[in-house]
Amino acid sequence: MTRMIDCQQVKMQFKGNLDPILTNINLQVQEGDFVSIIGKSGSGKTTLLQMIGGLLEPTAGEVKVNGTLIQEPIDEITYVFQKPVLLEWRNILENVLMPLELKRRLTKTDIEQAREVINIVGLASHENKYPHELSGGMMSRVTLARALLSQPKVLLMDEPFSALDAMTKEQLQIELMELSNRFSTTVLFITHDITEAVYLSDRVVLLGDQPAQVINEFSIPFPRPRPKELKFDVAFTKIIKEIHEQVEVNGGAT
Ligand SMILES: Nc1ncnc2c1ncn2[C@@H]1O[C@H](COP(=O)(O)OP(=O)(O)OP(=O)(O)O)[C@@H](O)[C@H]1O
Ligand SMILES: [Mg+2]
Repeated sequence: MTRMIDCQQVKMQFKGNLDPILTNINLQVQEGDFVSIIGKSGSGKTTLLQMIGGLLEPTAGEVKVNGTLIQEPIDEITYVFQKPVLLEWRNILENVLMPLELKRRLTKTDIEQAREVINIVGLASHENKYPHELSGGMMSRVTLARALLSQPKVLLMDEPFSALDAMTKEQLQIELMELSNRFSTTVLFITHDITEAVYLSDRVVLLGDQPAQVINEFSIPFPRPRPKELKFDVAFTKIIKEIHEQVEVNGGAT
């Protein structure tokens, strides 16, 4: 199996800081795997994701994605920011098509596929709407559709659903799981929500802080895609409890 994300001894120390934020980070994600990162606020999750996405250069160590040493953003990676970033003067369809349009002249097939992903995320009747006409949940759906249209090998997602109500969040989790499964996308997903992490992932990685390191990894043994009822399964809640306990041992809140 291909090692899609490979962090070796990654360290980050911001200029002017006495101590590193992250150190000795070794994290491997195999092709098609869904891995979540949890850890306290300020522990360095976003910093780590930005280094993997080529948005920030590590102070030491190296990051490889699909064998390429990351020194800048590469085409195989799509990065989804926590806050939906949409262009106000473009409607949904145009926002979804934007990354492709930056790369090349759009084809009829591109537009058909954009309509298909918009349909999948439940926005088919809204494609002509502009961002100011959308709810927060709809905006998140647009960013999800846009991320999936490029069918990236690697999807990096920084708390994409954290601002959503419980129902919308659950719906988008299901859509993300189905789509990432269908395209065998490798996903690295940051969340503060342990249930979300366990539900979506093959593996959950717990980061400690000051400086951040991987302190625990949990394998989640249920085959994907998973029914939403799994969240009520005894085996599922047992894993949640175990992770909560480890989070407590390491100083509380994620
Ligand atoms: N550009 C920067 N310069 C200096 N310090 C920074 C910079 N970016 C982040 N930091 C610091 O690095 C630490 C980790 O930040 P980061 O955003 O990675 O945390 P996080 O785990 O994503 O937190 P949250 O869960 O709140 O999003 C914080 O102490 C933050 O203040
Ligand atoms: Mg963050």
